[in-house]
Amino acid sequence: MKKKEEEKKRRQGRIARELGRIAGLDRYVRPEKVRGAIKLDSNENFALDSSFIAEVAALAAGAVDLREYPLDEFDALSRQLALYTGIPEKYIGIGSGSDQVIELLLTTIAGSGRRACAFVPTFSYFINRCELHGIRVDKVPLDKNFELDPKAFVKRAARSDVVYLCSPNNPTGGQLARKDALYMIDELESDDRLVLVDEAYADFAGYSLAKEATRRRNVIVLRTLSKAFGLAGARVGYMVANEEVAGAFNSTIQSPYPISTLSLAIAARVLERSERVKKTIEAVREERRRVFGSLSGFGSGIKAYRSDANFLFIEAGARNYGPIVRELARSGIVVKLMGDSVAGHRGCMRVTIGTREMNDAFLSCIERAVAGVAR
Ligand SMILES: Cc1ncc(COP(=O)(O)O)c(C=O)c1O
Repeated sequence: MKKKEEEKKRRQGRIARELGRIAGLDRYVRPEKVRGAIKLDSNENFALDSSFIAEVAALAAGAVDLREYPLDEFDALSRQLALYTGIPEKYIGIGSGSDQVIELLLTTIAGSGRRACAFVPTFSYFINRCELHGIRVDKVPLDKNFELDPKAFVKRAARSDVVYLCSPNNPTGGQLARKDALYMIDELESDDRLVLVDEAYADFAGYSLAKEATRRRNVIVLRTLSKAFGLAGARVGYMVANEEVAGAFNSTIQSPYPISTLSLAIAARVLERSERVKKTIEAVREERRRVFGSLSGFGSGIKAYRSDANFLFIEAGARNYGPIVRELARSGIVVKLMGDSVAGHRGCMRVTIGTREMNDAFLSCIERAVAGVAR
């Protein structure tokens, strides 16, 4: 039997073997869309009114000519990103979501057949894409409070060609202490290594390392408009790096027209109104404090972890998890359910901070489920 399998494999062509390898890999599964649900599963920003985004989108749609390839719109968005970040355009690269920026970096300057290092749990897309491209990932576990030992991490990462630091981290929510992040970057920046700092949620946090990246060797900070700026559907992300890396990205690595004219125009106009967005960021931070406080007050083994992002990681425990999952389903609330998949933690979920009403619906759900368990 084994011989037959081996013979079959030998006769298979290269493509079939590669497809077989790919079929065995973990992949990102798009969440199912539940119509009419309270959507707290993907860390989008619902504190930003849909009418605000719709009005800006209509304005942008009226101003562009979709018969043309995007030219001016690319430059206009670069200018707006420079204004928002305070970083000159020559250090900024734009992509179709930060997903695409990561993909491009992994398939070009990171190089295949190499080694990456990341702490876990972290944004699974990064790990999945590495594995797809034949980059082995050395996974360094966070401790039970999701803290990282920077010295130990540096030691492990020093053997890698690519280092990934997600901060604030998805799914756990915490941002690395600035001094720890700087220590790791100081130690790890090199002519031979790419250091990726994924700051998809930095707009909700205390600091950004984007400016640092402009004067460092091969340190790239990844940002996005999908989260704080409420534009997940527009697919616009960006990176900040030194002039040489950003220049190579813009001139050669990135394809000529990676983002639609409409998305570019919408993104530039939303950035022009960043004061409005900043108000909703403040509202989300306020709600994050409130929801964290309420969850911590429930007792019954429900634990929320400190977050600097627009979501909370919650460990509900083995007894509460099933009743909570059922209560959420009954109430039409969708969160990212993770069960026992995070080593050492039982009954886990990640929940987006939404509007006050959305958050109240979620909290009531937890309260009902926990009361049922206690009865
Ligand atoms: C840490 C992190 N990085 C990147 C992304 C992808 O963002 P984008 O929508 O810009 O591709 C996400 C989305 O969930 C994320 O959580």
